[in-house]
Amino acid sequence: KVINVILTGGVGSRLWPLSRKNKPKQYLDLFEGKSLFQQTVLRNKDCCDELMVVGNVDNFELSQKALADLDITSYQEIIEATPRNTAAAIAFAAFNSDADDILLVTPSDHLIEDLDIYHQSVSQAVQMAKQGSVVTFGLKPTKPETGYGYMQIKNNKVLSFREKPNEETAKDFLKQGSFYWNSGMFCFKAGVFLEELKKYHLKIYDTVKVAFEKKNGAELPLQESMQIPSISVDYAVMEKTDKIKAVKASFIWSDMGSFESVYEYLISKNYPIDKNGNMVIGSDIHSEFLGLRKCILVVTEDAILVLKKEKAQDVKKIYENLQQKK
Ligand code: GDD
Ligand code: MG
Repeated sequence: KVINVILTGGVGSRLWPLSRKNKPKQYLDLFEGKSLFQQTVLRNKDCCDELMVVGNVDNFELSQKALADLDITSYQEIIEATPRNTAAAIAFAAFNSDADDILLVTPSDHLIEDLDIYHQSVSQAVQMAKQGSVVTFGLKPTKPETGYGYMQIKNNKVLSFREKPNEETAKDFLKQGSFYWNSGMFCFKAGVFLEELKKYHLKIYDTVKVAFEKKNGAELPLQESMQIPSISVDYAVMEKTDKIKAVKASFIWSDMGSFESVYEYLISKNYPIDKNGNMVIGSDIHSEFLGLRKCILVVTEDAILVLKKEKAQDVKKIYENLQQKK
């Protein structure tokens, strides 16, 4: 069977103040009346047999509510005591499955259009996963984004995988033409993933196993979880495994990770901006920008943020500073 594993442990710090610890971005109704989390659930419902949600103690109630609002009652849940990054989150899902189950691992903060093409890509990936491959989805890059992973792809072969390169390297990859963005979605047999994790990052494998064995219902224990190295699956497994393959995907995709992506997405939907490209998010109040270009004003009930589009990655620092002050 094919299980959709939704990772929903991130806090979305780069979208502060829209995204908050008690309401991370994937649960906000930012676009088209449904949250990104709900859109993820719905888009995978038709191509998967089951659903497994991997979240954490701070947000599992939000997932439960979002699923109840969609009338979805049948799903499995894994509740992390503390976020240990994606290698561990996926390993928990794999330990919670049969070795031959096919896992379609999806983040919860993506917007995808062209669902027909999406479903075709997924079914291609499932076929490859059945043969024992660790399958990624490659998207044609449009700019030297440093927040993504890059894969050099020839046919369905991945010649190299490089997570979050610096800008110079990203520019070079773009010039070469054979590099694709890693979409952040993966498809493999649960057993194959665990074998690869064991081979390339034994410490994560072992510590996750110990924590998983002490699971109380859906909840993982804190003390054992603290021992798990916090490393993303991209570094821990994808850069290393020789079972990696890729489906070249052509659906429209955006990772709503930063205000830059949100800005570009909204512009593509004809959202209003002034003649210098300034944008207001979250308020209809009359706003003027003087001497500013490509700035974003974000308004919420209790906080305001003004930023230059290019500074979008640094919003994380504001969030972290605020966390420290608490
Ligand atoms: N359960 C759980 N626990 N989920 C987590 C955790 C965790 O500790 N940490 C992150 N997640 C979830 C996030 O909520 C998100 O849905 C997904 O895992 C991916 O994490 P991100 O932190 O958003 O990763 P990224 O965007 O920096 O990089 C990944 O995605 C890019 C494309 O969006 C990588 O796979 C890149 O290679 C890829 O290009
Ligand atoms: Mg992301």
